[in-house]
Amino acid sequence: MAKNIYLSLRSGLKMPALGYGTWQANDEELEKGMEAALEAGYRHIDTAHVYENEGVIGKVIKRWLSSGKLDSMKAMEAQVDAGLAKAIGLSNFNIKQIQRILDNARIPPCNLQVELHAFFQQNELYNFCKKNNIVMTAYSPLGSPGIGKFMSQFGQQVEAPNILGDPVVKRIAKKHNKKESQVLLRHIIQKGIAAIPKSTNPERLKQNIDIFDFELDNEDMKALNALDKGPAARIVDFYAFKG
Ligand SMILES: NC(=O)c1ccc[n+]([C@@H]2O[C@H](COP(=O)([O-])OP(=O)(O)OC[C@H]3O[C@@H](n4cnc5c(N)ncnc54)[C@H](OP(=O)(O)O)[C@@H]3O)[C@@H](O)[C@H]2O)c1
Repeated sequence: MAKNIYLSLRSGLKMPALGYGTWQANDEELEKGMEAALEAGYRHIDTAHVYENEGVIGKVIKRWLSSGKLDSMKAMEAQVDAGLAKAIGLSNFNIKQIQRILDNARIPPCNLQVELHAFFQQNELYNFCKKNNIVMTAYSPLGSPGIGKFMSQFGQQVEAPNILGDPVVKRIAKKHNKKESQVLLRHIIQKGIAAIPKSTNPERLKQNIDIFDFELDNEDMKALNALDKGPAARIVDFYAFKG
């Protein structure tokens, strides 16, 4: 792919100096031309309403984006190259999407942040990430107990599962003289997954990091692993949040 040079814009963004002109090519010529231009390294495409070619340009760009040949990933790689980012992480990607990135990325992503807790352990994704050397980060690791209250302000009814009140979690917490939240977080950490519990309560946020002085044994881990209910236990569904 040919190298370009970039001109700095007053907005702070940069524009490739050599762009691709599209006027006076018919749709068939332009579809082939766009394919060849993107392949050659053009990333500055000129169009205008009066050229009546925005549809075909959009079609080719969409095809490139969905094939993973062109996307935000290249922009992230450029940030790493420029020393502005140290590593690339993903969030809310499924196996198919991650595989597409891995097949096309020069700098593979090293972290994936997804919803993950005792009731939704994401085992397939976990195994896939392990195989591909991607560390996972669990969001909503306590089951997002505050989500019902938060969503109610948007007129949405979301019911968080009571993972903290689960009898298995309670039994294991009692056994180790720890809080239920600490057992849930320790379970995740012991699987080699990072966790990012949210709390604005100073006591609870201290509790949540005080999990490195005990260890869950095999029996505890097995019992906690068995709490998994699969995707049916997903809490955070952005498509459902219309607020
Ligand atoms: N990438 C994404 O798409 C995405 C999506 C969702 C979340 N996230 C990130 O992940 C973070 C965590 O997820 P989350 O906020 O959904 O859920 P969470 O961390 O599982 O739960 C937070 C809730 O639990 C309460 N809590 C915290 N510690 C507790 C404890 N020790 N005992 C009892 N209750 C406790 C908090 O209330 P108090 O504050 O009153 O303690 C809050 O209501 C988010 O804040 C966000 O940064 C990312």
